[in-house]
Amino acid sequence: MRPLLFAANWKMQVDPAEARRYAGQFLGATQPAAGRSLWFFPPAVSIESAAGAFRQRDDVRVGAQDVHWEPKGAFTGATSIPLARGAGAAGALVGHSERRHVFGETDEETGRKVRALLGAGLTAFLCVGEKLEEREAGKTEEVVLRQIRAGLAGVDPGDMSRLVVAYEPVWAIGTGRTATAEDAAKVHTALRAELGRLGATARIPILYGGSVNVGNALGLLARPEIDGVLVGGASLDPDGWAEIVGIGG
Ligand code: PGA
Repeated sequence: MRPLLFAANWKMQVDPAEARRYAGQFLGATQPAAGRSLWFFPPAVSIESAAGAFRQRDDVRVGAQDVHWEPKGAFTGATSIPLARGAGAAGALVGHSERRHVFGETDEETGRKVRALLGAGLTAFLCVGEKLEEREAGKTEEVVLRQIRAGLAGVDPGDMSRLVVAYEPVWAIGTGRTATAEDAAKVHTALRAELGRLGATARIPILYGGSVNVGNALGLLARPEIDGVLVGGASLDPDGWAEIVGIGG
């Protein structure tokens, strides 16, 4: 079995007590598997409780859904990298489509966050993806390659060993529509070529996300271009998520 990464994005759900209950149920339903890594992205208030509850399992890591690039200061409502790390986060999502399109995060801000995370020794999950009108205008590759270049501007290629990329077409997130495995694989191939041009030497995992569920995960993960999945809705039920990660071993 090749290495596969399964990432669960809980978004604005799962409080600290629910995170503990979830972890108990999920750990009871799964065993560590060679080559398979698992990440959970709880809301900031539940990072500490999730990290504590998963501590017994080396194959599980917990991350933040977003971080600020400044280490501290007057940024009401934001979570710094040291704060997230102190709560038990080993990395963070950056540039998730909801941060970009609901909260107005720019490519430039995404790049600052990636640089700050990698510089601090944490893992950055850089999310990219096109909107429906961009796809229909034939601009998918242009958009995701622009997002990758901006997200990695100024990053030392040596630090890219701690990078994960997630391709999440905006029109597929939470909508029940997924890209076909072939379409996703084509975008992954373009992203990998761009990572090479940017100097990456490590094999950076490229995940697919957007309405992944137990019915379509196997077909997506059968493609060698797809190194794992980033899942929202279908990760909220511990038994259903255990079934999906079971594809990885
Ligand atoms: P979804 O979300 O699986 O609910 O579509 C994926 C994501 O936004 O990361």
